[in-house]
Order: sequence, then C-alpha cells, then structure tokens
Amino acid sequence: MNTTTKPIRWGILACGKIAEKFADDLVAHVSGGVLYAVASRNLAKAQDFAEKHHCPNAFGSYQELADCTEVDVIYIATPHAQHYENTLMCLEAGKAVLCEKAFAVNSVQLEEMVAKSREKNIFLQEAIWTRFHPSIAQTLEIINSGKIGSIVHVAADFGFLAQYDEKSRLFNPELTGGSLYDIGIYPLFISKLLLGNPSSVKAVATMAPTGVDTNCSMALSFPNGATATLFSTLGAVTDTTCTIYGSKGKLLIHGRFHETKGLTLEIYGEKTHVFETERLGWGYSYEAQDVQRCLAEGRIENDKLPLQFSLELMELMCEIRSQIGLVYPGE
Ligand SMILES: NC(=O)c1ccc[n+]([C@@H]2O[C@H](COP(=O)([O-])OP(=O)(O)OC[C@H]3O[C@@H](n4cnc5c(N)ncnc54)[C@H](OP(=O)(O)O)[C@@H]3O)[C@@H](O)[C@H]2O)c1
Repeated sequence: MNTTTKPIRWGILACGKIAEKFADDLVAHVSGGVLYAVASRNLAKAQDFAEKHHCPNAFGSYQELADCTEVDVIYIATPHAQHYENTLMCLEAGKAVLCEKAFAVNSVQLEEMVAKSREKNIFLQEAIWTRFHPSIAQTLEIINSGKIGSIVHVAADFGFLAQYDEKSRLFNPELTGGSLYDIGIYPLFISKLLLGNPSSVKAVATMAPTGVDTNCSMALSFPNGATATLFSTLGAVTDTTCTIYGSKGKLLIHGRFHETKGLTLEIYGEKTHVFETERLGWGYSYEAQDVQRCLAEGRIENDKLPLQFSLELMELMCEIRSQIGLVYPGE
C-alpha cells in the first residue's frame, strides 16, 4: 500500500441543509478525503460553516472555490435550477464534480454538462446517494440470486409534509420546485435500477398554486412485461417504502427506502427474513467514498451510476413533466 498518497481535497459549494449533512459525514466517515474548502454567496455564512466542520478555507463566492487550485472535487448543493451553471463553472475550472439531484432542469442542460465533462476529461456524477448504500448492494444481490424469481411489479413512494411557502425551494418554480424533481426522482431511480427504461409511462399530478406538482403519481410498464407504480408528494407523510414483487417472493426495502436500514424478504410459503443493513452517519459517506474510488481509478464517470443513467432518468422526468403540464421558467 502506498502510504504517501495525498488525501482527496473536497470543496462544498453552497452551505444549505444538505451540505451540512454531507459535511458531517465527509468529516466523520470518509477515509482518504478531507473537507478542504467551502463556499457560500455570503462569506460570513461560509466561515461559520467552515468553523463548524473544521474546514480550513471559506470563500464568499462560488467562483473562488472553483478557482482554488488545491481543491480536487466539488460537491454542489444548490437548488436544482442552479446546478447547470454551477457544474459548468466547476468543470471549466478543472474540478471534478459531484452534483446534487435533480442534476439539471432538463435534458438540454444535462447534455451540455455531460459534453463539458467529456471535453475537459473531468469527472462528473449526479449525487444519487442511495445508489451507494449497502442496502442497494444487498437488494441487487437478492434480486440477482433469483430468490424472488423474476420481477413482476415495483411499488415505491416518497412523501413528506412540506409547509407551503411559494418562495421556498420546494414550491418555487424559479428554483425548479415540485415533488417530482425533489423526491419523485427516488422511486424513478429504483425502478430504473431494477427494471431499466420503461416502454411506457403515464403520469397524473396535483399542482400547487405556484404551478409545480405537489402530488405526482406514475404508472410504468417495461419491455420484459413488468410494471411499476410510483408516487411522490409534498402534502402527506407516506410510508416511503419500495416493494419488489417477484414470481417466487417479494422484497420490501423498509422506509425510508432511499436511506434504509433494513430489508424484509418473503419467499412465498416460507419463513420471512428481516435483514439489517448498514448506514453510517446520515448515509452520505458512501457516495463520497465511491467518488474517491473513481478519481483514484482515473474515471470521468462512475461505473455504478453512469452519466447515461442520469441522462435517461432526466429524459423520463421531462416526459412526465410534459404529461402533467409542468414547464419551468425559461423553458
Ligand atoms: N441527497 C439528499 O438526501 C438530499 C436531501 C435534500 C436535498 N437534496 C438536494 O440538495 C440540493 C439543495 O437542497 P437543500 O435542501 O440543501 O436546499 P437549501 O437548504 O435551500 O440550500 C441550498 C443552498 O443553495 C444556495 N443557493 C444558491 N442559489 C440559491 C438561490 N437562488 N436560492 C436559494 N439558495 C440558493 C444557498 O447557499 P449559500 O447561501 O450558502 O450560497 C442555499 O443555502 C437540491 O438539489 C436538493 O434536491 C438532496
């Protein structure tokens, strides 16, 4: 083992709620990486954040972080509407990027982001943290073992009760609000991971007064004959589980399935097994650790979550948006 390998130096762009959790986990649970710099649009906010997370550098603009020569990789934690310009700025400055979901406002933006990563030969990944949780590896192992047979149907939901505020990230169309982009992406992610691209999708939604979706209900069918029912809402606390129904049994990913600590496997006619799954801290260290693996291997995209996956997911969300009549400003 090479003990002289330098740690990967992380930068965090934007000091909001999710950035706090990511920083907690980066500092506590990621080996071979350090939190080196943070940036906010407000220098005092960046300094407070840096102090809290024992980070040596704080900047009062995102550009300064992108230009900081010592930073290797930047985690972007701004609202969806800002991901496109933030990502292009970081890639342009030669920084690897892990950008929060939803990756962009639409496919046109995302294609440009992916093209920039390829042109510059620099790493880019969407931060779908669930993909890197041990529970997902266990889920895939069980499915691939054939224990539940072939998948017949996937049912997944994600809902929480958000206080209506037309200016907030969740309801403001200028910030690409709505349940689909904020949380509906998780049921879509799991169905895509398990079943691939759907051959058809039908979506209905309820809109908030701001015009973004508060409820979004989706029915999908897949080329192999499987189906899925997926649901997201900002108006109710739902179970937030994922049930995978197979021809021989079913697997339940416990709520909240995107950050679960357990699975229940039921083979029809046999005893039910409950498995605990590991989740360190908030659960963000796994994606950060895997980004570092990719950088060490010289990759410009993550083989476990390729850019093509994100492009197809975005296309699917855009198709759903066209069905529910959700157009974001500037489109
Ligand atoms: N992976 C997960 O589990 C998870 C969970 C929640 C959210 N997310 C994703 O993370 C991203 C951020 O969500 P969040 O809940 O952390 O949001 P948040 O608390 O509102 O933080 C977003 C930050 O973005 C910066 N920002 C830049 N331009 C902004 C603008 N025009 N309006 C508001 N803020 C702006 C601000 O940071 P400065 O003031 O410091 O510049 C703000 O604090 C979203 O993409 C969301 O989908 C992921």
